[in-house]
Amino acid sequence: MEVTTLTAEHMMEFLYGLPDQFADSLDMTFDFAGEYRKPFQNIVISGLGGSAIGGDIVRTLAAGRAPLPVVVNRDYNLPAFVNQNTLFVAVSYSGNTEETLSAYQQAREKRAAVVCLTSGGKLAQMAASDGYPVIKVPGNLVPRAATGYLFAPLALFLEEIGLLDNVRGEIEETVQVLKEQREILNPQVNLPDNPARQLAQKLKDSIPVIWGSSGLTEAAALRWKAQINENAKSPAYYNLFPELNHNEIVGFEVPAQLLAHMAVVILRDQGDHPQVQKRMAITRQIIESRVKEVVEVSSQGQSFLARFYSLVYLGDYTSVYLAHEYGINPTPVQVIDYLKAELAK
Ligand code: F6R
Repeated sequence: MEVTTLTAEHMMEFLYGLPDQFADSLDMTFDFAGEYRKPFQNIVISGLGGSAIGGDIVRTLAAGRAPLPVVVNRDYNLPAFVNQNTLFVAVSYSGNTEETLSAYQQAREKRAAVVCLTSGGKLAQMAASDGYPVIKVPGNLVPRAATGYLFAPLALFLEEIGLLDNVRGEIEETVQVLKEQREILNPQVNLPDNPARQLAQKLKDSIPVIWGSSGLTEAAALRWKAQINENAKSPAYYNLFPELNHNEIVGFEVPAQLLAHMAVVILRDQGDHPQVQKRMAITRQIIESRVKEVVEVSSQGQSFLARFYSLVYLGDYTSVYLAHEYGINPTPVQVIDYLKAELAK
Protein backbone atom coordinates (compact mmCIF):
# COMPACT_ATOMS: atom_id res chain seq x y z
CA MET A 1 0.00 0.00 0.00
CA GLU A 2 1.22 3.46 -0.80
CA VAL A 3 2.01 5.93 1.96
CA THR A 4 -0.90 8.37 2.17
CA THR A 5 0.97 10.98 4.19
CA LEU A 6 2.81 12.08 1.06
CA THR A 7 2.11 15.70 0.17
CA ALA A 8 1.72 17.55 -3.10
CA GLU A 9 5.30 18.80 -2.70
CA HIS A 10 6.54 15.22 -2.70
CA MET A 11 5.13 14.65 -6.18
CA MET A 12 6.83 17.83 -7.40
CA GLU A 13 10.12 16.59 -5.95
CA PHE A 14 9.66 13.19 -7.54
CA LEU A 15 8.99 14.83 -10.90
CA TYR A 16 12.04 17.06 -10.64
CA GLY A 17 14.13 13.95 -9.94
CA LEU A 18 12.96 12.00 -12.98
CA PRO A 19 16.06 12.71 -15.14
CA ASP A 20 18.22 11.36 -12.30
CA GLN A 21 16.38 8.02 -12.44
CA PHE A 22 17.59 7.60 -16.02
CA ALA A 23 21.10 8.74 -15.07
CA ASP A 24 21.23 6.28 -12.12
CA SER A 25 20.04 3.44 -14.34
CA LEU A 26 23.04 3.97 -16.63
CA ASP A 27 25.27 2.91 -13.69
CA MET A 28 23.39 -0.34 -13.04
CA THR A 29 25.06 -3.65 -13.85
CA PHE A 30 23.40 -6.94 -14.70
CA ASP A 31 25.81 -9.68 -13.63
CA PHE A 32 23.25 -12.37 -14.41
CA ALA A 33 22.95 -11.25 -18.07
CA GLY A 34 25.16 -14.07 -19.41
CA GLU A 35 22.50 -16.71 -18.65
CA TYR A 36 19.94 -14.73 -20.65
CA ARG A 37 21.82 -14.53 -23.94
CA LYS A 38 19.58 -17.12 -25.59
CA PRO A 39 17.59 -17.31 -28.83
CA PHE A 40 14.26 -16.33 -27.26
CA GLN A 41 11.16 -16.41 -29.44
CA ASN A 42 9.33 -13.63 -27.62
CA ILE A 43 9.42 -11.31 -24.62
CA VAL A 44 6.46 -10.97 -22.25
CA ILE A 45 6.46 -8.11 -19.76
CA SER A 46 3.83 -8.34 -17.02
CA GLY A 47 2.77 -5.36 -14.93
CA LEU A 48 -0.11 -3.03 -14.13
CA GLY A 49 -0.55 0.74 -14.09
CA GLY A 50 2.64 2.67 -13.46
CA SER A 51 4.61 -0.57 -13.66
CA ALA A 52 3.22 -1.54 -17.07
CA ILE A 53 4.00 1.61 -18.99
CA GLY A 54 7.74 0.87 -19.16
CA GLY A 55 6.77 -2.38 -20.88
CA ASP A 56 4.71 -0.43 -23.41
CA ILE A 57 7.72 1.70 -24.28
CA VAL A 58 9.90 -1.39 -24.66
CA ARG A 59 7.19 -2.85 -26.91
CA THR A 60 6.99 0.21 -29.18
CA LEU A 61 10.78 0.59 -29.22
CA ALA A 62 11.22 -3.10 -30.02
CA ALA A 63 8.65 -2.96 -32.83
CA GLY A 64 11.08 -0.79 -34.79
CA ARG A 65 14.36 -2.49 -33.95
CA ALA A 66 14.13 -5.90 -32.24
CA PRO A 67 14.16 -9.32 -33.90
CA LEU A 68 11.30 -10.68 -31.79
CA PRO A 69 7.84 -9.58 -30.60
CA VAL A 70 7.25 -7.98 -27.20
CA VAL A 71 3.88 -8.46 -25.51
CA VAL A 72 2.76 -6.46 -22.48
CA ASN A 73 0.53 -8.51 -20.21
CA ARG A 74 -1.75 -6.67 -17.77
CA ASP A 75 -3.57 -9.66 -16.36
CA TYR A 76 -3.53 -12.57 -13.92
CA ASN A 77 -3.12 -15.02 -16.80
CA LEU A 78 -0.39 -15.32 -19.39
CA PRO A 79 -0.95 -15.91 -23.12
CA ALA A 80 -0.87 -19.59 -24.13
CA PHE A 81 2.26 -19.13 -26.27
CA VAL A 82 4.48 -18.50 -23.22
CA ASN A 83 6.96 -21.38 -22.84
CA GLN A 84 10.65 -22.10 -22.20
CA ASN A 85 11.55 -19.94 -25.22
CA THR A 86 9.96 -16.86 -23.62
CA LEU A 87 11.85 -14.17 -21.75
CA PHE A 88 9.39 -13.16 -19.03
CA VAL A 89 9.84 -9.95 -17.04
CA ALA A 90 7.64 -9.29 -14.00
CA VAL A 91 7.51 -5.57 -13.20
CA SER A 92 5.90 -4.35 -9.99
CA TYR A 93 7.19 -1.33 -8.13
CA SER A 94 5.73 -2.46 -4.80
CA GLY A 95 6.28 -6.12 -5.60
CA ASN A 96 2.82 -6.85 -4.21
CA THR A 97 0.42 -6.45 -7.14
CA GLU A 98 -1.65 -9.62 -7.24
CA GLU A 99 -2.12 -9.81 -11.01
CA THR A 100 1.67 -9.60 -11.53
CA LEU A 101 2.35 -12.20 -8.83
CA SER A 102 -0.12 -14.55 -10.51
CA ALA A 103 1.50 -14.04 -13.94
CA TYR A 104 4.92 -14.61 -12.36
CA GLN A 105 3.77 -17.95 -10.95
CA GLN A 106 2.41 -19.01 -14.33
CA ALA A 107 5.68 -18.01 -16.04
CA ARG A 108 7.57 -20.18 -13.54
CA GLU A 109 5.24 -23.12 -14.22
CA LYS A 110 5.69 -22.68 -17.97
CA ARG A 111 9.48 -22.66 -17.45
CA ALA A 112 10.00 -19.27 -19.06
CA ALA A 113 13.29 -17.45 -18.38
CA VAL A 114 12.19 -15.11 -15.58
CA VAL A 115 13.60 -11.73 -14.50
CA CYS A 116 11.95 -9.40 -11.96
CA LEU A 117 12.06 -5.60 -11.75
CA THR A 118 10.86 -4.30 -8.38
CA SER A 119 11.73 -2.31 -5.27
CA GLY A 120 10.97 -5.35 -3.06
CA GLY A 121 7.76 -6.89 -1.70
CA LYS A 122 6.53 -10.43 -2.30
CA LEU A 123 7.91 -10.48 -5.83
CA ALA A 124 11.48 -9.97 -4.59
CA GLN A 125 10.94 -12.65 -1.92
CA MET A 126 9.51 -15.18 -4.37
CA ALA A 127 12.27 -14.51 -6.91
CA ALA A 128 14.92 -15.00 -4.21
CA SER A 129 13.48 -18.37 -3.18
CA ASP A 130 12.97 -19.47 -6.81
CA GLY A 131 16.50 -18.38 -7.80
CA TYR A 132 15.51 -15.75 -10.37
CA PRO A 133 17.44 -12.49 -10.76
CA VAL A 134 15.91 -9.27 -9.43
CA ILE A 135 16.69 -5.83 -10.85
CA LYS A 136 16.19 -3.85 -7.63
CA VAL A 137 15.22 -0.19 -7.82
CA PRO A 138 14.99 2.37 -4.97
CA GLY A 139 11.76 2.11 -2.97
CA ASN A 140 11.16 5.66 -1.76
CA LEU A 141 8.77 6.73 -4.54
CA VAL A 142 5.23 5.94 -5.67
CA PRO A 143 5.05 3.64 -8.71
CA ARG A 144 3.96 6.21 -11.28
CA ALA A 145 6.72 8.56 -10.13
CA ALA A 146 9.29 5.78 -10.57
CA THR A 147 8.70 5.65 -14.31
CA GLY A 148 12.40 6.04 -15.16
CA TYR A 149 13.37 3.15 -12.89
CA LEU A 150 10.53 1.00 -14.26
CA PHE A 151 11.78 1.37 -17.83
CA ALA A 152 15.48 2.25 -18.15
CA PRO A 153 17.03 -0.74 -16.30
CA LEU A 154 14.83 -3.12 -18.29
CA ALA A 155 15.78 -1.57 -21.64
CA LEU A 156 19.48 -1.51 -20.68
CA PHE A 157 19.30 -5.17 -19.68
CA LEU A 158 17.68 -6.04 -23.03
CA GLU A 159 20.48 -4.12 -24.77
CA GLU A 160 23.07 -6.02 -22.77
CA ILE A 161 21.67 -9.39 -23.90
CA GLY A 162 21.56 -8.22 -27.51
CA LEU A 163 17.78 -7.81 -27.97
CA LEU A 164 17.70 -3.98 -28.29
CA ASP A 165 20.27 -1.52 -29.59
CA ASN A 166 21.15 2.17 -29.07
CA VAL A 167 19.46 2.19 -25.66
CA ARG A 168 22.35 3.67 -23.67
CA GLY A 169 22.88 6.59 -26.06
CA GLU A 170 19.17 7.35 -26.15
CA ILE A 171 18.91 7.30 -22.36
CA GLU A 172 21.85 9.72 -22.21
CA GLU A 173 19.99 12.08 -24.53
CA THR A 174 16.81 11.61 -22.47
CA VAL A 175 18.66 12.79 -19.35
CA GLN A 176 19.75 15.96 -21.20
CA VAL A 177 16.33 16.73 -22.69
CA LEU A 178 14.46 16.17 -19.41
CA LYS A 179 16.96 18.31 -17.48
CA GLU A 180 16.35 21.17 -19.92
CA GLN A 181 12.58 20.68 -19.71
CA ARG A 182 12.45 20.70 -15.92
CA GLU A 183 14.00 24.13 -15.86
CA ILE A 184 10.83 25.54 -17.44
CA LEU A 185 8.25 23.09 -16.04
CA ASN A 186 9.09 23.25 -12.33
CA PRO A 187 6.94 25.21 -9.85
CA GLN A 188 9.44 28.08 -9.57
CA VAL A 189 8.46 29.06 -13.12
CA ASN A 190 5.28 31.09 -13.32
CA LEU A 191 2.39 30.73 -15.72
CA PRO A 192 3.60 32.95 -18.61
CA ASP A 193 6.79 30.88 -19.06
CA ASN A 194 5.57 27.47 -17.94
CA PRO A 195 3.85 25.36 -20.65
CA ALA A 196 2.62 22.74 -18.15
CA ARG A 197 0.85 25.36 -16.02
CA GLN A 198 -0.71 26.78 -19.19
CA LEU A 199 -1.94 23.35 -20.28
CA ALA A 200 -3.39 22.65 -16.84
CA GLN A 201 -5.44 25.84 -17.08
CA LYS A 202 -6.78 24.74 -20.45
CA LEU A 203 -7.70 21.29 -19.12
CA LYS A 204 -9.38 22.62 -15.98
CA ASP A 205 -13.15 22.03 -15.81
CA SER A 206 -13.03 19.80 -18.87
CA ILE A 207 -12.86 16.12 -19.70
CA PRO A 208 -9.41 15.66 -21.22
CA VAL A 209 -9.18 13.43 -24.27
CA ILE A 210 -5.62 12.57 -25.26
CA TRP A 211 -4.87 11.48 -28.81
CA GLY A 212 -1.56 9.99 -29.86
CA SER A 213 -0.72 7.78 -32.80
CA SER A 214 0.34 4.18 -33.12
CA GLY A 215 4.09 4.07 -32.49
CA LEU A 216 6.06 6.57 -30.45
CA THR A 217 3.20 8.60 -28.97
CA GLU A 218 0.99 5.59 -28.23
CA ALA A 219 2.22 4.90 -24.70
CA ALA A 220 2.67 8.64 -24.10
CA ALA A 221 -1.08 9.15 -24.68
CA LEU A 222 -1.90 6.36 -22.23
CA ARG A 223 0.53 7.87 -19.72
CA TRP A 224 -1.07 11.35 -20.02
CA LYS A 225 -4.51 9.84 -19.46
CA ALA A 226 -3.38 7.76 -16.47
CA GLN A 227 -1.47 10.65 -14.88
CA ILE A 228 -4.49 12.94 -15.17
CA ASN A 229 -6.59 10.19 -13.56
CA GLU A 230 -4.17 9.41 -10.74
CA ASN A 231 -2.72 12.86 -10.00
CA ALA A 232 -5.62 15.22 -10.76
CA LYS A 233 -8.28 12.60 -9.84
CA SER A 234 -10.18 13.62 -12.98
CA PRO A 235 -11.64 11.52 -15.78
CA ALA A 236 -9.51 11.40 -18.93
CA TYR A 237 -9.60 9.20 -22.00
CA TYR A 238 -7.20 8.40 -24.79
CA ASN A 239 -7.19 7.01 -28.29
CA LEU A 240 -4.86 6.67 -31.26
CA PHE A 241 -4.61 7.78 -34.86
CA PRO A 242 -5.34 6.37 -37.35
CA GLU A 243 -7.81 4.07 -35.57
CA LEU A 244 -9.84 6.91 -34.02
CA ASN A 245 -10.61 8.21 -37.51
CA HIS A 246 -12.61 5.05 -38.11
CA ASN A 247 -14.97 5.36 -35.14
CA GLU A 248 -14.39 7.92 -32.37
CA ILE A 249 -14.39 10.87 -34.76
CA VAL A 250 -18.02 10.17 -35.65
CA GLY A 251 -18.99 10.69 -32.01
CA PHE A 252 -18.53 14.46 -31.98
CA GLU A 253 -22.05 15.47 -33.05
CA VAL A 254 -24.18 15.17 -29.92
CA PRO A 255 -24.73 15.92 -27.07
CA ALA A 256 -23.46 19.45 -27.71
CA GLN A 257 -23.41 20.43 -24.03
CA LEU A 258 -21.18 17.53 -23.12
CA LEU A 259 -18.86 18.05 -26.09
CA ALA A 260 -18.42 21.66 -25.00
CA HIS A 261 -16.63 20.33 -21.88
CA MET A 262 -14.08 18.22 -23.74
CA ALA A 263 -10.49 19.32 -24.16
CA VAL A 264 -8.58 17.37 -26.80
CA VAL A 265 -4.80 17.15 -26.57
CA ILE A 266 -3.03 15.88 -29.69
CA LEU A 267 0.46 14.49 -29.10
CA ARG A 268 2.67 15.01 -32.13
CA ASP A 269 6.02 13.59 -33.11
CA GLN A 270 8.31 14.13 -36.07
CA GLY A 271 8.12 10.40 -36.81
CA ASP A 272 4.32 10.40 -37.25
CA HIS A 273 3.39 8.90 -40.62
CA PRO A 274 2.76 11.70 -43.18
CA GLN A 275 -0.82 10.50 -43.64
CA VAL A 276 -1.33 10.55 -39.87
CA GLN A 277 -0.11 14.17 -39.80
CA LYS A 278 -2.69 14.97 -42.47
CA ARG A 279 -5.36 13.12 -40.49
CA MET A 280 -4.52 15.18 -37.39
CA ALA A 281 -5.01 18.44 -39.29
CA ILE A 282 -8.33 17.36 -40.86
CA THR A 283 -9.61 15.91 -37.58
CA ARG A 284 -8.79 19.11 -35.78
CA GLN A 285 -10.89 21.08 -38.29
CA ILE A 286 -13.82 18.69 -37.82
CA ILE A 287 -13.97 18.91 -34.02
CA GLU A 288 -12.58 22.35 -33.22
CA SER A 289 -15.86 24.28 -33.13
CA ARG A 290 -17.60 21.58 -31.05
CA VAL A 291 -15.22 21.06 -28.14
CA LYS A 292 -13.89 23.41 -25.48
CA GLU A 293 -10.29 23.24 -26.58
CA VAL A 294 -7.93 21.51 -28.99
CA VAL A 295 -4.26 21.72 -28.04
CA GLU A 296 -1.29 20.24 -29.86
CA VAL A 297 1.97 19.41 -28.15
CA SER A 298 5.12 18.21 -29.90
CA SER A 299 7.94 15.99 -28.74
CA GLN A 300 11.44 17.37 -28.29
CA GLY A 301 14.88 15.86 -28.84
CA GLN A 302 16.33 13.57 -31.48
CA SER A 303 16.15 9.95 -30.42
CA PHE A 304 13.05 7.81 -29.90
CA LEU A 305 13.42 7.70 -26.12
CA ALA A 306 14.19 11.40 -25.65
CA ARG A 307 11.20 12.34 -27.81
CA PHE A 308 8.96 9.88 -25.99
CA TYR A 309 9.93 11.04 -22.50
CA SER A 310 9.74 14.72 -23.44
CA LEU A 311 6.01 14.18 -24.01
CA VAL A 312 5.64 12.12 -20.85
CA TYR A 313 7.41 14.76 -18.76
CA LEU A 314 5.20 17.57 -20.01
CA GLY A 315 2.10 15.44 -19.30
CA ASP A 316 3.33 14.48 -15.84
CA TYR A 317 3.84 18.12 -14.83
CA THR A 318 0.54 19.14 -16.44
CA SER A 319 -1.36 16.51 -14.43
CA VAL A 320 0.17 17.75 -11.16
CA TYR A 321 -0.64 21.40 -11.95
CA LEU A 322 -4.16 20.27 -12.81
CA ALA A 323 -4.39 18.70 -9.33
CA HIS A 324 -3.33 22.09 -7.93
CA GLU A 325 -6.03 23.81 -9.99
CA TYR A 326 -8.58 21.52 -8.34
CA GLY A 327 -7.04 21.92 -4.87
CA ILE A 328 -6.21 18.21 -4.76
CA ASN A 329 -3.15 16.43 -3.37
CA PRO A 330 -1.81 14.57 -6.43
CA THR A 331 0.28 12.03 -4.52
CA PRO A 332 -2.01 9.53 -2.72
CA VAL A 333 -4.27 7.22 -4.74
CA GLN A 334 -6.65 6.15 -2.01
CA VAL A 335 -9.12 4.44 -4.33
CA ILE A 336 -6.42 2.11 -5.70
CA ASP A 337 -5.21 1.38 -2.17
CA TYR A 338 -8.77 0.64 -1.03
CA LEU A 339 -9.37 -1.72 -3.95
CA LYS A 340 -6.13 -3.60 -3.34
CA ALA A 341 -6.92 -3.93 0.39
CA GLU A 342 -10.47 -5.20 -0.28
CA LEU A 343 -9.21 -7.73 -2.84
CA ALA A 344 -6.58 -9.00 -0.43
CA LYS A 345 -9.25 -9.88 2.18
C1 F6R B 1 0.36 4.22 -8.34
C2 F6R B 1 0.32 3.68 -9.68
C3 F6R B 1 -0.46 2.44 -9.93
C4 F6R B 1 0.40 1.19 -9.65
C5 F6R B 1 -0.39 -0.10 -9.90
C6 F6R B 1 0.46 -1.34 -9.74
O1 F6R B 1 1.32 5.26 -8.22
O2 F6R B 1 0.87 4.26 -10.58
O3 F6R B 1 -0.93 2.46 -11.25
O4 F6R B 1 1.53 1.22 -10.48
O5 F6R B 1 -1.46 -0.15 -8.97
O6 F6R B 1 1.20 -1.34 -8.56
P1 F6R B 1 2.75 -1.69 -8.63
O7 F6R B 1 3.37 -0.67 -9.55
O8 F6R B 1 3.26 -1.54 -7.24
O9 F6R B 1 2.85 -3.08 -9.15
